[in-house]
Amino acid sequence: MSQPNAAKSGTFKIGGEIEIHRLGFGAMRVTGQGIWGEPADRAEAIRTLKRVPELGIDFIDTADSYGPDVSEKLLREVLHPYKGMLIATKGGLLRPGPDVWEPNGKPEYLIQEAQKSRRQLGVEQIDLWQLHRIDPKVPRDEQFAAIKSLLADGVIRHAGLSEVSIAEIEAASKIFPVATVQNRYNLVDRASEDVLIYCERHGIGFIPWYPLAAGDLAKNGSLLDQVARRHRAAPSQVALAWVLKRSPVMLPIPGTSKVRHLEENVAAVDIALSDEDFAALDQAGRQQSAA
Ligand SMILES: NC(=O)c1ccc[n+]([C@@H]2O[C@H](COP(=O)([O-])OP(=O)(O)OC[C@H]3O[C@@H](n4cnc5c(N)ncnc54)[C@H](OP(=O)(O)O)[C@@H]3O)[C@@H](O)[C@H]2O)c1
Repeated sequence: MSQPNAAKSGTFKIGGEIEIHRLGFGAMRVTGQGIWGEPADRAEAIRTLKRVPELGIDFIDTADSYGPDVSEKLLREVLHPYKGMLIATKGGLLRPGPDVWEPNGKPEYLIQEAQKSRRQLGVEQIDLWQLHRIDPKVPRDEQFAAIKSLLADGVIRHAGLSEVSIAEIEAASKIFPVATVQNRYNLVDRASEDVLIYCERHGIGFIPWYPLAAGDLAKNGSLLDQVARRHRAAPSQVALAWVLKRSPVMLPIPGTSKVRHLEENVAAVDIALSDEDFAALDQAGRQQSAA
């Protein structure tokens, strides 16, 4: 059987310029428990990262806070010089311990962290840098101005935001061009539907995190389960195929530390959902999201 290839997910141009395959990879899981320290099985994490480009993935999402620093350093160790790949990273969260994430949006900190990510990744310029969270303790325009200066100084080429509302995207857009938005979104978590529609209208890449979730829809005998059985697929694969079909600006980044899971996730590009199944799943997902 031929191996799956992320190229089949179609393409999107980040910032209208850098073309990537829409199905990417999230590098948060190649770290230890609590997204802290080295991965439990480092050799398997390395095998997984090596497999990423072999499966046609050319878009990886990471952050300085994953580990912290562990994910960026491992990406460099395994994939540098990232031929033909776009490595996106994020900054703006402090990590005092496992599973603890604290925003720090002080302009000097954001600038220092982006410079550190550039060094850690071993690139001249970061193709896409995203503000991990808007820090409520710091005026947002000061955070956006720091991003503008990173763009002007050439430290980063494009910039994005994470976990934001339409009003926040509009406020940021007054100060720098917003290339991507990264919000939690999946078949059964549709709280950011309005943001997705906004991104579609404005040609902004929408990066849904936690894209594999299917919640109760994955239960035995459920609609998702039935569709999955018909396609001889896992419910999480159908959930991912649904996310991909939802919008041309959708850039999912499922994350894993295991080769087998990576291959399974990429194989979702071969699932062609009918419009009827897509619509029925859409409705079931909306209902669960609202429950
Ligand atoms: N902007 C933000 O605030 C934010 C927040 C969270 C995440 N992210 C980004 O989004 C990416 C994806 O988010 P996520 O990791 O939370 O969600 P996800 O990719 O939907 O799910 C990952 C989880 O599912 C497991 N998994 C992956 N593939 C599987 C498969 N085929 N079968 C069974 N289990 C599977 C992984 O464990 P195994 O390692 O065991 O496979 C992991 O526990 C992250 O890597 C990160 O880059 C961003």
